[in-house]
Amino acid sequence: MGNKYTTGIDVVSVVRFKDILIDEHFKNRVFSEQELTYIFKADNESVKLDRIAARFAAKEAFFKAVPSMKDLIMKEVAVNHDEDGRPFLVFSGKTKLFVEKNNLSFDLSITHDAGLAIATVVCYEATD
Ligand SMILES: CC(C)(COP(=O)(O)OP(=O)(O)OC[C@H]1O[C@@H](n2cnc3c(N)ncnc32)[C@H](O)[C@@H]1OP(=O)(O)O)[C@@H](O)C(=O)NCCC(=O)NCCS
Repeated sequence: MGNKYTTGIDVVSVVRFKDILIDEHFKNRVFSEQELTYIFKADNESVKLDRIAARFAAKEAFFKAVPSMKDLIMKEVAVNHDEDGRPFLVFSGKTKLFVEKNNLSFDLSITHDAGLAIATVVCYEATD
């Protein structure tokens, strides 16, 4: 008995997402509507790229933080923000069921600079 923490981290090169800004199929397969709204409300392309890359990194960091997850359905793991701008993860579909069934909660941190976006996720599993 006890509580368990696991962590995940991911770094991505922002430039890798340049073509994706105009790839409707990819965007709609990977990002939630709320994420796309946040990404595209930025008024310059470099901020859009930072945001899209950071969200991609957050989804991969989530997957790394949860060793018992077998598949990552990217769109079901989304980044939202509180009123201070602090990011947090929200879930839908099968991923939401998995998170609830396993009593998991998460903390997310994001940074982007110098052409890189990095996300870290802490996963907390309440086991008693
Ligand atoms: C929140 C803050 C630390 C972000 O740092 P930054 O170096 O500007 O930017 P980073 O690339 O490292 O981080 C950006 C990410 O921080 C996250 N973030 C924003 N507000 C946050 C908050 N209150 N708490 C935690 N994370 C936050 C966001 O996820 C953001 O990325 P996103 O927009 O893609 O979601 C910074 O804006 C801030 O408020 N600093 C407080 C000190 C300050 O006001 N300094 C300026 C006066 S000198």
